[in-house]
Amino acid sequence: MILIKSAGEIEIMASAGRICALALEAVKGIIAPGISTKEIEKFAHDLIKKEGGQPAFLGYRGYPAAVCVSINEQVVHGIPTGRKLREGDIASVDLGVYYKGFYGDAAKTFAVGEVSPEARKLMRVTEESLDLGISRAVAGARLSDISHAIQTHAEENGFSVVRSFVGHGIGRALHEEPQVPNFGPPGKGPRLLRGMALAIEPMVNAGSWKVRVLGDGWTAVTEDGRLSAHYEHTVIVDEGQPSVLTRLS
Ligand code: MF3
Ligand code: CO
Repeated sequence: MILIKSAGEIEIMASAGRICALALEAVKGIIAPGISTKEIEKFAHDLIKKEGGQPAFLGYRGYPAAVCVSINEQVVHGIPTGRKLREGDIASVDLGVYYKGFYGDAAKTFAVGEVSPEARKLMRVTEESLDLGISRAVAGARLSDISHAIQTHAEENGFSVVRSFVGHGIGRALHEEPQVPNFGPPGKGPRLLRGMALAIEPMVNAGSWKVRVLGDGWTAVTEDGRLSAHYEHTVIVDEGQPSVLTRLS
């Protein structure tokens, strides 16, 4: 069952989403060659706590950190370590916030200094794919209209979308129904209704869509070793354009 959020619940989710957005904006300011992924995690964790939230991922199914930092060919769920970012890397930072009984979830890929033209294009197209997906999250549309918009834009630009990780409903749980795939034909799945809350999160690969999980049990990497980017927003379906809770406005 896909839960419909009340106005009061949406207000709290907006606060959770705002903390996600603030944390990612702050992280953007410290991304530079030489910073370790563990330092990024501590910085984000401190900021989330300072804003009155709790990190949603820490302890989730045993995940050992407050945020995920996935570098270059790492797709999602990179566990922070002493590894330092280097000039030319791209780093995807994914963070969830728990606030007054509700969750927010957001992710962004950052360039570390000057990056390759391919990396720059991959980041741009992935973010555009997310924005196109969000633009389909309107009451009366079907769930897979979001999926199709994302896949079409990524593939038109010569990239591929990851199949084995998907977006999700979100609210009192980090992951609620429905799953939100980043691929598929249009016009399928449940009809979207005003008040549904979705975390839409395309992961787009420069090469093949295939991924595998490393021996740490978490870090997903591209099978071909090529770059991957990840952007995510938490949105509320409405009659007109959805409200994006994890964007600072
Ligand atoms: N945004 C991802 C998701 O919704 C991140 C989850 S990380 C985990 O699945 F540690 F919480 F699993
Ligand atoms: Co998510």
